[in-house]
Amino acid sequence: MEKERRAHARPGAGSSWAPSTVLVTGGAGFIGSHACVELLDHGYEVIVVDDYANSTPHVFARVERIAGRFVGAVYELDLRDRRALSAVFDRHSVDAVMHFAALKSVSGSVARPVEYYDTNVGGTTALLRTMHEHGVHRLVFSSSCSIYGDAGPGLLDEATPPRPTNPYAASKWLCEQILADVCRHRPEYTVLCLRYFNPAGAHPSGLLGEDPQDVPDNLMPYVAQVAVGRRERLRIFGADYPTPDGTAIRDYIHVMDTVEAHRVALDHLADEPGMHVYNIGLGQGSSVLDVVAVFSETCGRAVPYQMVPRRPGDVASLVADPSAVTRAWGWRPTRDLSDMCRDAWRFQQLNPHGYAGSARRPGPKG
Ligand code: UD1
Repeated sequence: MEKERRAHARPGAGSSWAPSTVLVTGGAGFIGSHACVELLDHGYEVIVVDDYANSTPHVFARVERIAGRFVGAVYELDLRDRRALSAVFDRHSVDAVMHFAALKSVSGSVARPVEYYDTNVGGTTALLRTMHEHGVHRLVFSSSCSIYGDAGPGLLDEATPPRPTNPYAASKWLCEQILADVCRHRPEYTVLCLRYFNPAGAHPSGLLGEDPQDVPDNLMPYVAQVAVGRRERLRIFGADYPTPDGTAIRDYIHVMDTVEAHRVALDHLADEPGMHVYNIGLGQGSSVLDVVAVFSETCGRAVPYQMVPRRPGDVASLVADPSAVTRAWGWRPTRDLSDMCRDAWRFQQLNPHGYAGSARRPGPKG
């Protein structure tokens, strides 16, 4: 493994409060693992907690290979185990938390709603109680555009009234309301709540990507597995939406842009206390057929598909008005759908069976 340590000056490091140690919940997952690379690349000390519900510890050897630095510590635990979580805060001087850990399958949430509320809301309240006990008051929260529900066509800004259509989305909205209430009553808290649209793609190295433990629920990993021959054909859920080609429209955003937004958020955790909510999206809608077309072009073969009925809990269109975060932080995403397809395809080609069989990290583990 490359051991060279990169020295990066962090913007904001000269201000009165600047985080140096960041606790990443769900750091082994798709977005969390890319966030670990981004944080390590920018000189942060990274502590991870993850229960590997939909991820694997194999990912850390890759994170460290890309970053050329070690993750500070990795603990296998469920956030609802407050005793174990508290021990992590006892052991490390955590400055800020990035909270990614959650269940995220829309169909899973429709089938098992109580599990989704328990894990996503219970995990968040357990984290908040533990943070409170340890005097940690700064949090970047992973929320989701799904809270907007069936808001219709057009760009959705942060003032769009939330109307979740499935328990996954409802669980995220409940977490947001809890966080807003905490901030309302406790002025020492700052919460930056990032509502991301549809993160996709992979790290450009091809070492990190989306590796669901089961049959992929999300579009991009499913398309990639079809393209590589692991699955026969994509099933397109619904060709009768009120959209130009009849398939549902989403605002796909590169996972590297998504985690860049989280890293930039750290520089704004000391700006103003309270809860601040930002959409993280490109502001461009792509239909399922658009994604299939761009992916087919990227991989040089037509991705086979069949139309099937709509998926319960899905909506026709979700596209961000992403201008608020640009106004607040001067940040905007820079990668487009073809970058996402190119990077997702590279990851899939280099890892046709995901992380299975790669070396497990020998580092510290709780
Ligand atoms: C959902 C959430 C989103 C969240 C994401 C996390 C909603 C409306 N959106 O995204 O906020 O970040 O989960 O996982 O709740 N599709 C197919 N065939 C497939 C897979 C997907 O046609 O095999 C279609 C879906 O019907 C949808 C689009 O592709 O129209 C994207 O689906 P997916 O990647 O699962 O994301 P969302 O459901 O939009």
